[in-house]
This record gives sequence, C-alpha cells and structure tokens, in this order.
Amino acid sequence: MKTVAIYSSKGGVGKTATAVNLAYTAAASGKRVLLCDMDSQGAASYYFRIRAKKKFNSQKLLAGDFVKYIRGTDFINLDLLPAHFSFRNLDLALNSLGEKERRMALAKLLKPLDEDYEILILDCPPNLTLLSENIIEASDVLVCPVIPTTLSLIALEQLLKLFGKLEADKGKILAFFSMVERRKSMHTTVMEKYRKYPLFLKSAIPFLAEIEKMGISRLPVGAVIKQSPAAQEYTRLWQEIWKRSKTL
Ligand SMILES: Nc1ncnc2c1ncn2[C@@H]1O[C@H](COP(=O)(O)OP(=O)(O)OP(=O)(O)O)[C@@H](O)[C@H]1O
Ligand SMILES: [Mg+2]
Repeated sequence: MKTVAIYSSKGGVGKTATAVNLAYTAAASGKRVLLCDMDSQGAASYYFRIRAKKKFNSQKLLAGDFVKYIRGTDFINLDLLPAHFSFRNLDLALNSLGEKERRMALAKLLKPLDEDYEILILDCPPNLTLLSENIIEASDVLVCPVIPTTLSLIALEQLLKLFGKLEADKGKILAFFSMVERRKSMHTTVMEKYRKYPLFLKSAIPFLAEIEKMGISRLPVGAVIKQSPAAQEYTRLWQEIWKRSKTL
C-alpha cells in the first residue's frame, strides 16, 4: 500500500481538487483506492456527496475504530473515509498522547488498511501542526500543490524546514504547479526558476473552469467528461506521481 498525502500549509492551493481527482484517476486505473478526508471542513467528502455518520468522531478515529465508517463512492474501486467536524480537535487529541506515540499515531492507525487498499490518498487541512507531523510520518509520498506565487513557495519552504526538524526523508516530497495561468508573467517566471529542481514534477495543473465547477457538479472532472482537458491533466499528474513513488 502506498500512502500519498496531498499537503500544503497554505490554504486554497488546490489540495482537495487534487486529492479528489487523483483518487478518481487512480481508482479508474484499476487500483483499490481509499481517499481519507482529514480536513474537518469535509470538502473532499462533499464532492462525493458523502457525510460522516453522527456517531463517528476524532476519538473513534484515534482509537482505531473507524473502518466501519468507510463508505463506498459511486465509483468502482474508490472508497472514502469521510471527515467529521470533530477532526478540528485532532491536534489536541494527538497532543494528549505520550511523547513517543504522538507523532506516529496516524501511521499506526492506517497500517491495517494495507490488506484492503493499494493506494491511500490523504486530503490534508492547511496546517503546520502535530497533525502535519503525523501526516509526514504516515506517508510514502507528500504531494505539495504550489501556485506559482511567492506565498505558495513559502509554504513549500516551510514544509522542507519541518522535514529537516523531523529528520524525515525530503526525497518523498513532490511538488507541482497548481492553478497555473500562463498569461500571468509571474506564473511563468516562477515556474521557469523552480521547475529545474528535481522535487518539482513536470506535470502542472492549469487554472480551468471545469475544475472550479466541481463545487456545482460534485463530481471528479473525469466523471463529468471522461477525456476533458482537466481529466487528462490529472491523469498525467497521477501517472508521474505513481512512477516517481516507485523509486522512493
Ligand atoms: N486548477 C484549478 N482551476 C480552477 N479552480 C481550481 C483549481 N484547483 C482548485 N480550484 C478551485 O479553487 C478553490 C480552492 O481549491 P481547493 O479547495 O482544492 O484548495 P485547498 O488547498 O484544498 O483549500 P483548503 O486549504 O481550504 O483545504 C476551489 O473553489 C476549487 O474549486
Ligand atoms: Mg481542502
């Protein structure tokens, strides 16, 4: 099982759009996929029209009592662990664990899913907290969407810094340019400057109205029009991530 976290400490960079579409693409390629919505805002769950059961909460998640709350989606091979509003307290709950366990808790929780899924995709909240440290420890690959602007790059730098602090393997960070608007000179300048770094993937996701409209369709872009430009871009991105993940 490969665990792929879609992570950035910056909000609104396209994490959820990426997590939803990559999960859909990976499942469509025949792999058994579980998308875990780790963000209490529940945006990924919303896109799949799934709400967590009232009985589910962050305490149950941390106690390992969550498998029964996993739901099937409308798509073959793709299941979802919905977010619950109480996930906003995940950091507090993690903090109350013993020093040794507190950073590895999520990794330990996700491990048993190994038998049922080939790929886990985590849609992460925009944090730089103990939950982020858990996400780093639990993931084989961290995919960081970067809008080609200064603030998004700062979030990537912060992530590299956190990896340094944790003495984690920076090789598992993969960044890609998100919401790219080629008519904006700042976007093209930033991309030219940074794309030479091996941590940047060659694939980039343009700013496209079809992706923006997911809030209305509540479907992954490939489920609206199979071969649409956006669906093709996410397929390309997924193929590159999958290929790179095998070398990690
Ligand atoms: N490539 C894109 N083209 C156009 N719109 C996009 C694109 N990617 C994301 N969006 C839109 O931008 C908004 C923010 O995207 P998204 O929710 O995926 O970001 P996020 O990083 O998950 O945000 P948060 O940090 O709040 O969880 C959404 O309305 C989404 O539909
Ligand atoms: Mg999000």
